[in-house]
Amino acid sequence: TEKFMPFVTELDFATGKLNPEGHVITRNLSHMKDMYYDQEAVRQLLGQNPLIYVVYNVVVPETAAHIQHCVTILYPGKVGNEYFMTKGHYHEVLDRAEIYFCLKGKGQLLMQTQDGAFASIDMVPGSVAYVAPEWAHRTVNTGDEPFVFFAAYPGDAGHNYGDIETEGFAKLSVEQNGEAVLVDNPRY
Ligand code: F6R
Ligand code: ZN
Repeated sequence: TEKFMPFVTELDFATGKLNPEGHVITRNLSHMKDMYYDQEAVRQLLGQNPLIYVVYNVVVPETAAHIQHCVTILYPGKVGNEYFMTKGHYHEVLDRAEIYFCLKGKGQLLMQTQDGAFASIDMVPGSVAYVAPEWAHRTVNTGDEPFVFFAAYPGDAGHNYGDIETEGFAKLSVEQNGEAVLVDNPRY
């Protein structure tokens, strides 16, 4: 069999973009409108349909031998008083862990398990967070500039969005008096 050759991707620290860009995923509000709590605010923002995040994925085979890696640029903003966030997911192979390394901006990493545990980690440049096996994960931009982080995870992990689409996360990250606070999700 052919050897898989080593290669390099350049990450621009100023923007978070990768070169080559790889596989690019963009998420606007319309892609995740049911995930925000304040549906009236969603309706008001949908005309403008803001870009919420972009993911640049280095393309490698999706097998256990490989390590997927990517950069997420999560833009600042709110829907009502809930901060812009990623969809969030469990890995399809549930016990696959992940590392998130914050490069720019600030945010929160929200995590939960299927048996009801919840955890959150504040991320600033230099924070290296370990998403342990079996924890769903979502990021939130609590700052006023793009929140940029690098991620690496096993090639065969896959993504399970369905459980989060139906259940949401146990906590919402909202602005109260200029501060980011976690509140119970009334729909959870
Ligand atoms: C990969 C991973 C991240 C996210 C990205 C976007 O396993 O956790 O690269 O995929 O931050 O978030 P989602 O995938 O939840 O839309
Ligand atoms: Zn993941």
